[in-house]
Amino acid sequence: MTKSIRKICCIGAGYVGGPTMAVFADKCHNLDVNVVDIDSEKIKNWNEDDLSKLPIYEPGLKEIIKRRRGINLHFSTDIKKNISSADMIFISVNTPTKKSGIGAGQASDLRWIEASSRQILEYAKGHTFVVEKSTLPVRTAETIKSILTCKKNNKKTFTILSNPEFLSEGNAIDDLNNPDRVLIGGQNEDDTKYLVEIYLNWIKREKIITTNLWSSELSKLVANAFLAQRVSSINSISALCEVTGAQIKDVSRAIGMDSRLGEKFLNAGPGFGGSCFKKDILNLVYISRHLGLYEVAEYWGKVIEINNWQQKRIFQTIVSKLFHTVSDKKIAILGFAFKANTNDTRETPALNICKWLIEEGAILNIYDPKVTSDQINNELIKVNISIRNKQKWNYKNNILDCAKETDAIIILTEWDEFRFINWSQISKVMREPSWLFDTRSISNLSKAKECGINVWTVGKNDI
Ligand code: NAD
Ligand code: UGA
Repeated sequence: MTKSIRKICCIGAGYVGGPTMAVFADKCHNLDVNVVDIDSEKIKNWNEDDLSKLPIYEPGLKEIIKRRRGINLHFSTDIKKNISSADMIFISVNTPTKKSGIGAGQASDLRWIEASSRQILEYAKGHTFVVEKSTLPVRTAETIKSILTCKKNNKKTFTILSNPEFLSEGNAIDDLNNPDRVLIGGQNEDDTKYLVEIYLNWIKREKIITTNLWSSELSKLVANAFLAQRVSSINSISALCEVTGAQIKDVSRAIGMDSRLGEKFLNAGPGFGGSCFKKDILNLVYISRHLGLYEVAEYWGKVIEINNWQQKRIFQTIVSKLFHTVSDKKIAILGFAFKANTNDTRETPALNICKWLIEEGAILNIYDPKVTSDQINNELIKVNISIRNKQKWNYKNNILDCAKETDAIIILTEWDEFRFINWSQISKVMREPSWLFDTRSISNLSKAKECGINVWTVGKNDI
């Protein structure tokens, strides 16, 4: 089969679909890239003239949108038209954990994958490449194939590929421009070569790995599980440091200099958040259990257990340091996003910690440079902190307002502006005895201490 790929359609204009396709359009001017979504509000925002209103915040993204939108990059709700004219379709829809039914709380909810596959079956024309971009349980390509080939005497034909995305939020554009590797799974080289050729526009051949479909699907889940495992490992050791006098930053440095271990992903903190680590490990646990591999399931389940425990123990430490009660105390929360340089709050550790503090009677001032008040409200409603509890938290627009009259400041996201806080100014507006709880180890603790603030940070006790 010979086919040249000219038109691309990406189903799903979210955190993956939007930036990934923007970079495709930026690197491949000969491709016409169309990103479609059922969410018309999101598409409207992707088409906003005011680029500060794009639906997601990613450093470097708006510059690409400015360069390519309306030229070879388009955002649309016209799913039918864009699928029917596409040579290659990326499925980039959400695959969250199932909330009810069989496998609830562990298995991936594949309803959006199935809906996308059915849309493709209905509207595609001729031969179409269908690429799994979403993170999926191993062997999902089989399901997609079953749907795409279910009609008898259908003249449409499909090639299914797996091309999982490894970008990390806040760094997505750099990751996409210069990935550690690109992984493409397919039945044979004839199938994968079309997608390989697209990536060759900006990525060296040695960085492009081709495998069978199942290795590709599984590798994505395993990559996230290994990364999350490192975070849980270092967080478990942070607790040990706090009771032994060892310091987690020294331990991270000492072990990270071993080239077999490497220095990345050894920052202790409030536990991993984001839409994927937990979901993908849960999925791995579910698949393993389903296949009778109970020890494997239990092993990976522990990574999540440690993550929950880390959040809980940080919350408990805060309450205990504040004389075992936070009732009616004002507490400043700096950072609500699950990590710096993103406005994403899915599974953010800040959510549990804020929820528990509010339930314990605290009144929170919350500030995040990129997360809106509405977004925080929506997250809190999800964990049963209702709008009626609005008086239990206030949204603030800057660090100083956030800190006013509070007993404690808790740093939960490692935004750069939280690294350089003017502690002398802040200490004057707080109620004494005042506390700083730095869950990300980014502050100048000795400066805060000099200004009369009590300090606590993760993985260190002799401050
Ligand atoms: P997202 O929720 O931000 O975006 C998904 C989009 O798909 C939504 O806008 C939704 O409206 C749209 N959609 C759902 N069904 C549709 C349909 N039938 N037709 C058209 N549009 C539809 O999700 P995301 O964060 O972009 O993640 C997408 C996938 O990529 C997930 O499988 C995730 O695990 C994986 N992934 C995410 C990241 C990340 O950093 N967020 C990184 C790598 C992989
Ligand atoms: C992660 C992976 O890094 C990506 O490769 C993957 O594509 C993506 O998940 C996905 O599949 O969604 P992301 O969740 O965007 O990316 O961000 P990370 O940088 O991995 O951080 C995840 C969480 O771990 C954050 O809450 C972060 O604060 C935390 N973390 C990370 C630590 O607490 N310590 C560290 O040393 C590193």
